[in-house]
Amino acid sequence: MDQVSYNVHKLFPTPVYRSKVTFDTLTYHKLIGFEWEVNDSYGSDIITHKETKNRRILDLPQFSGLKKQVQSHINNFVFDVLKAQKEQSWEITTSWVNEVEKGGYSAMHTHANSLISGTLYLNVDDKTGGIAFHKDISHKTLWHDTVRVDFDEISDYTTEASLFLPVTGDILLFPSILSHSVLINESDIVRHSLAFNVFPRGVFGKGGNSELIL
Ligand SMILES: [Fe+2]
Repeated sequence: MDQVSYNVHKLFPTPVYRSKVTFDTLTYHKLIGFEWEVNDSYGSDIITHKETKNRRILDLPQFSGLKKQVQSHINNFVFDVLKAQKEQSWEITTSWVNEVEKGGYSAMHTHANSLISGTLYLNVDDKTGGIAFHKDISHKTLWHDTVRVDFDEISDYTTEASLFLPVTGDILLFPSILSHSVLINESDIVRHSLAFNVFPRGVFGKGGNSELIL
């Protein structure tokens, strides 16, 4: 029998942007030279997750070159990929450095008061733990979550999580509403990453009754 050809369309995909940022060793050392604060809100049993007290790291003049690179990736994501109108500028609101020692991880979370979030990996290896993005329980790709069919192979249609294994210099951008978790750091090196949140500023819905000026 002849093979019947068919097409399958992937509707409503969630974009996760991945690219590269360059920085030198001196910049890396400056980024990790700030005062740390323990953050126990990520779910680690042991206190292995610290973040810089400064949550506006990228606003500091010494990181203007790095900020420019990050901003150009945000613009690629928003304007080239998502085709957002250029009426608004998409600005970095908060930015901080995470330090996770061996045994540390981040439980599933989303980022509040933000539309796009991102991570720039400053120091990772293949054992420092990847980032997993999770399909929301209310997101019905196929059918309701309580119906569990067994599949021979998990595909984009049936997966409930997607794992990324970043290397140093990788930048990821994703919707802040997308749940994610960071796997356990099983490496002997301390994992450092720069995280940031982004919100648009400008006029939305110009002239209508839903106009919003931010
Ligand atoms: Fe996060």
